[in-house]
Amino acid sequence: MAMALAFDRHRRLRGNKGLRAMVRETRLSVLQLMYPVFVTHEPGRHPVGAMPGVDHLGLEAWRREVHDLAELGVPGVILFGLPAVKDDVSSEAYAENGIVQQAIRIARQENPDLVIATDVCLCQYNPAGHCGIVHGDEIVNDESLSLIARTALSHAQAGADMVAPSDMMDGRIAAIRAMLDSHGLVQTPILSYAVKYASAFYGPFREAANSAPAFGDRRTYQMDPANVREAILEAQSDLDEGADMLMVKPALAYQDVLRALRDRFEVPLATYNVSGEYAMVKAAAMQGWIDERRIVMEMMTGFRRAGADVIITYFAKDVARYLREQEGGLV
Ligand code: PBG
Repeated sequence: MAMALAFDRHRRLRGNKGLRAMVRETRLSVLQLMYPVFVTHEPGRHPVGAMPGVDHLGLEAWRREVHDLAELGVPGVILFGLPAVKDDVSSEAYAENGIVQQAIRIARQENPDLVIATDVCLCQYNPAGHCGIVHGDEIVNDESLSLIARTALSHAQAGADMVAPSDMMDGRIAAIRAMLDSHGLVQTPILSYAVKYASAFYGPFREAANSAPAFGDRRTYQMDPANVREAILEAQSDLDEGADMLMVKPALAYQDVLRALRDRFEVPLATYNVSGEYAMVKAAAMQGWIDERRIVMEMMTGFRRAGADVIITYFAKDVARYLREQEGGLV
C-alpha cells in the first residue's frame, strides 16, 4: 500500500460530466446574448471583409434576419446604421427615416418580443468619422450632446427598447435622459458604453461601419487602456446621470475592469466582445489552428465569470446553436 500522504482530492468532483455540470459555478444562457447588426440602404447582404460570417444587411434581408434570430432564440440586437450620406451635423443619425429608424420599425413589426437596442453615436454619420462634432481638429464635447440626445430620442420614438450611447462625450447620459423624459419616454432605459477604451480591437468594425476617423484618433474621448480606477469614475458618473445598465468594451483584455465594476455596482453589466476579438478567432479557426466552438464557449464563460450579465457578441447566433445542442441549453 502507498504511504498515506496528506493532500486534497480536487479531482473527486471532476469525475464525470453530470458531476462537473452540477458543481459548475458559472452558467451561460442564450437569454444573456445580444447580437450586433449593421443595416444599410443597399438591398441584399454584403459580407464584411475582416469579419467572416458578418454581413451588412439591406432592410429586406434584415426583415428575414429578425425571424432567423427568433428561431435561434437570440433575444436581443444592437443596431448600427450605414447612412446614405454623411454630413457635418450627422443628419441621418436622427432622421425620421434614417436607416436605423427604419430598421427598428421593421423589427417591431416582425417580432414584437425582440429586444431592440441601438448604438447611439455620430461617427458613422459625419465625414470626419468622429463620435462628436468637430471644430478644426478638436472634438467638441458640449455641442455634441444635443445631437447625441436627439439621435437617442429618434431611436426611442421609432420604437427602440433601449438606447446605447457609445460616443464617450461627458454628460451624454444626462443629456439623453433629459431629452427622453421631456418627450414622455421616461420608461426607455439607457445602456451606457460607460467604460470604453481607445482600442485597436475595433479595427474591423471601422470597415464594417465605414466609420474610421478621417484624422487623428479617438484618444481624447475614449479611455486609456492602462486605466481601471478611471473606469470606476466613468461608471459612477453615468449612474449618477441616469444610466440603467453599464458596458465594458472591449471584453477580452478588460475582464479585470468588468470584475472591478461588478464588485462595486449593482446594475446589470454588459460586455462587448468586439470586432477585432471576433476576427482573431475567425482567422485562426479558418487556418485550422484552433477549435472555434470551444474557444468561443470558453470566452463566453470567461465574460460571465468576470461579471457580465449580458454579452454583446458577433458569435451570438453560433453560441445559440451550441447551447441548443447541449443538454439543458446551459453551460
Ligand atoms: C462607434 C462604435 C464603435 C464600436 C461600437 N460603436 C467603434 C469605435 O468606437 O471606434 C466598436 C464595435 C466593434 O469593434 O465591434 N462609436
